[in-house]
Amino acid sequence: MAHIVVSLGGSVLIPDDRDAEYLRKVAELFRRLAKDYPLVIVCGGGKVSRYYISVLKKLDENRDAQDRMGIDVTRLNAKLLQLAIGEDCYQKIPKRVKKAVEEASRYRIIVMGGTTPGHTTDTVAAMIAERLKAERIVNATSVESAYSEDPRTNPEAVRYERLSHKELLDLVNKGKHEAGPSDVFDRRGAEVAMKSDIPIYIVNGRDLREFEAAIRGEKVKGTVVGI
Ligand code: UTP
Repeated sequence: MAHIVVSLGGSVLIPDDRDAEYLRKVAELFRRLAKDYPLVIVCGGGKVSRYYISVLKKLDENRDAQDRMGIDVTRLNAKLLQLAIGEDCYQKIPKRVKKAVEEASRYRIIVMGGTTPGHTTDTVAAMIAERLKAERIVNATSVESAYSEDPRTNPEAVRYERLSHKELLDLVNKGKHEAGPSDVFDRRGAEVAMKSDIPIYIVNGRDLREFEAAIRGEKVKGTVVGI
């Protein structure tokens, strides 16, 4: 059975909103779904990584140091999720895509964070999905779906049910030149998914029904890319 690769944003995992309760429930969901779908879950850094990176910027530390600190935080988040899942998952945190891909043939659940400086965990998820020839990528974010603009600043923003990979790429490229809206999926990751023709489901990871539907490839309220 083909793998599902999950990019789980730090803003979903630890937004400081009943996080332990969420972790317990999402861990239960992963344990249950892993019986049907082998999972690789790549955790993001969220506001904790952004905080460290902002302090390092003020200390005039270079981009490499900032990225390495960001990676450390993603791995801390991965450890947190790994503990919540328990012994059903591989007990180490793979530090490289190659290692994750190797272990994915032996374990039903792999949990990890970032790998090397210069990209984000969405790209790591896409790279792993490419190597594993995964069925789909599920991007669990803190928004309901992809929008034409940031819905918090523009109530007229259009919500997308479906996009092609090219349309997603245009959307995130557009976002780069505008202040504010954070991209729904990292540009490099979207390029990798387009090249390998892997669908991406963009859903609110705090909505566990929605999260489950996305992992199963069923109908979601969020955005389906590339189908
Ligand atoms: P995230 O993947 O969480 O970045 O990694 P993000 O998309 O900017 O954050 P969210 O989605 O808003 O939470 C956190 C930071 O860690 C570094 C980058 O600096 C990134 O911004 N990182 C992460 C790497 O350099 N390489 C990796 O493989 C992963």
